[in-house]
Amino acid sequence: MTKILVTGGAGYIGSHACKVLAREGYTPITFDNISTGWEDAVQFGPFERGDLLDRERLDEVFAKHKPEAIMHFAALSQVGESMQVPGWYWRSNVGGAANLCEAAVEAGCEKFIFSSTCATYGDQDGVVLDENSKQMPINAYGASKRAIEDILDNFEASFGMKRVIYRYFNVAGGDEEAQVGEFHRPETHLIPLVLDAIDGRRPKLTIYGTDYDTPDGTCIRDYVHVMDLVEAHVLGLKWLESGKQSREFNLGTGTGFSVREVMDAAGQVTNRPVPYDEGPRRAGDATRLVSGSSRAIDELGWKPRRSTMPQMIEDAWRWHQTGHYEK
Ligand code: UFG
Repeated sequence: MTKILVTGGAGYIGSHACKVLAREGYTPITFDNISTGWEDAVQFGPFERGDLLDRERLDEVFAKHKPEAIMHFAALSQVGESMQVPGWYWRSNVGGAANLCEAAVEAGCEKFIFSSTCATYGDQDGVVLDENSKQMPINAYGASKRAIEDILDNFEASFGMKRVIYRYFNVAGGDEEAQVGEFHRPETHLIPLVLDAIDGRRPKLTIYGTDYDTPDGTCIRDYVHVMDLVEAHVLGLKWLESGKQSREFNLGTGTGFSVREVMDAAGQVTNRPVPYDEGPRRAGDATRLVSGSSRAIDELGWKPRRSTMPQMIEDAWRWHQTGHYEK
């Protein structure tokens, strides 16, 4: 079976990708340093523990498995943290990706699927962001992902490596069978934090800023279901397998939800109140990030079937109630 190297396969999005790859007949090889992932999330193929900054370990894994392609999910990915320790984000995300590209090219693996982010666009309030929008990141996380996009362009020019870049909007929800799901320690993402507040694992949610220039004063984001998102990755893999050119795609739905709207939806789905208070803005937050993602639909044939807010919350809530990683 065709092997795919999945960096970050023990993390939230990577573990869902491994599940879908296995379902589609591929063998996902997880490469992960378990710094933010979970070994028990690796359920759908072999696990190779390692760090992207360790070039020898990467070479070993390429030699052992000879993957046909790479899905590169592993990264530091917190906007707020990236503003506190920007050097660490550059060293880890950009240095790791450069190592991975070099190891891949030397091993003859020349298909690369990359998790980039809408944070590369920065704060362009009022603009529906399409793939041609200018990339002007306002935080170190977005800047590091933007730099990796440049690395991939350089590797294509120098070595012919083909890549598909996905710029994610806000990923949410979980596997409908709750075999894997979203869990970060510490958790920073809105939907799991809202669910924590609902079921009392946390006293309350703090809304970061209520004075944004939006109808209810809170930030607006475009949420996409993790299973829809990883299905787009498999379509990207098939795109490269069929010899098509390198391409970049936004993955979002084109609909924005404010923080308060997400809280209201969670209250409705769970039929419970959301305890909350209001705090100051968080550094690095853009006012509104909403995708124009028609390119993925038109060109890849992507069908985001589960990306409605009630469905994403319902799937996240199902996983949340398993208490899986608290064991
Ligand atoms: N928020 C709160 N309170 C919280 C947590 C979040 O009000 O306790 C707000 C944030 O300020 C933001 C929104 O909820 O307005 C969403 O915040 P998240 O932390 O869930 O997500 P971000 O938009 O900051 O970032 C996420 C990923 C990034 C990715 C980005 C793309 O963490 O990796 O989506 O928009 F790049």
